[in-house]
Amino acid sequence: MRKKILLTGSAKHFGINGAGIECNSFGGGEISLTIKEPKNDLEGTEVFLIGSTNAPAENILEMLFAINALRRMGVSGISAVIPYFAYSRADKEKFPGESVSAEAVAKMLEAVGGSVLKVFSVDIHSERLRSFFNISFENIDASELFMGKFLGMPDLTVVGPDHGAKERAENFAKEINASGFATIDKERLEDGTVIVKGITGKVGKRVLMVDDIIDSAGTIIVGADFLKASGVDEIYVAATHTVWNSGGYLRLANSGLIKKVYTTNTIKPPSDVPGSFEVISVKPLLDKIINR
Ligand code: R5P
Repeated sequence: MRKKILLTGSAKHFGINGAGIECNSFGGGEISLTIKEPKNDLEGTEVFLIGSTNAPAENILEMLFAINALRRMGVSGISAVIPYFAYSRADKEKFPGESVSAEAVAKMLEAVGGSVLKVFSVDIHSERLRSFFNISFENIDASELFMGKFLGMPDLTVVGPDHGAKERAENFAKEINASGFATIDKERLEDGTVIVKGITGKVGKRVLMVDDIIDSAGTIIVGADFLKASGVDEIYVAATHTVWNSGGYLRLANSGLIKKVYTTNTIKPPSDVPGSFEVISVKPLLDKIINR
């Protein structure tokens, strides 16, 4: 089957060769979207539509509107490749009245894409996201991007900075043959403050904290503080997604707690990423999805 690659505005930095989408904003802030490819180039093709849905919310709209336009152009299949899936953390109702926003986004994609749509994402926050889809949904594991940085590093304990990261840390510890793994007992208070109550497992002098997202960086900073107070000398971080516009990465860099933070470009990084950060491209993962 013929394939076509289309890039939303949030995907241009991935270095993937694909056609763009024209997206303009009206004076009032609403957007209009046009796919400029000729209809007969798209008819009957499998389209890989690539774009992250990080804030602003227009990135979600662009994805939805592009799927709508593609269906009107008679494509035979759409693979929406969404490296950073916004709202994935809002996957359960923590208190009555709270929206399960991850479910709402999944249902919007499903409604607009119908049976021609498949969705791919990278290192989703939890398996709950998958359960919101009644269409094909595949999560791509990004751990291979980080492995080379840590394979063979001596006396390294992999630490999950909270219980949600336990499985991720445990799996990564096995993949790199680490000395061990541990999980921090974290609690987030109602005002968003993060506190550490303890740790399950033993840590040595060198630690790698593994997480899915750095946002405010509160989770990593408070966890790293705790680890340093427990006698750890050297801390590394591997976190797949960084929400750059929240500024937490700057707090983390300025904390001086971390020797190196490895993250990826699922969300476009700013041009002046601090030297203690290394941004790894997710292009190899996206190429694998496209070239299957
Ligand atoms: C929480 O469950 C997630 O896995 C991350 O640990 C969290 O979202 C990171 O957020 P922040 O950087 O704001 O603490």
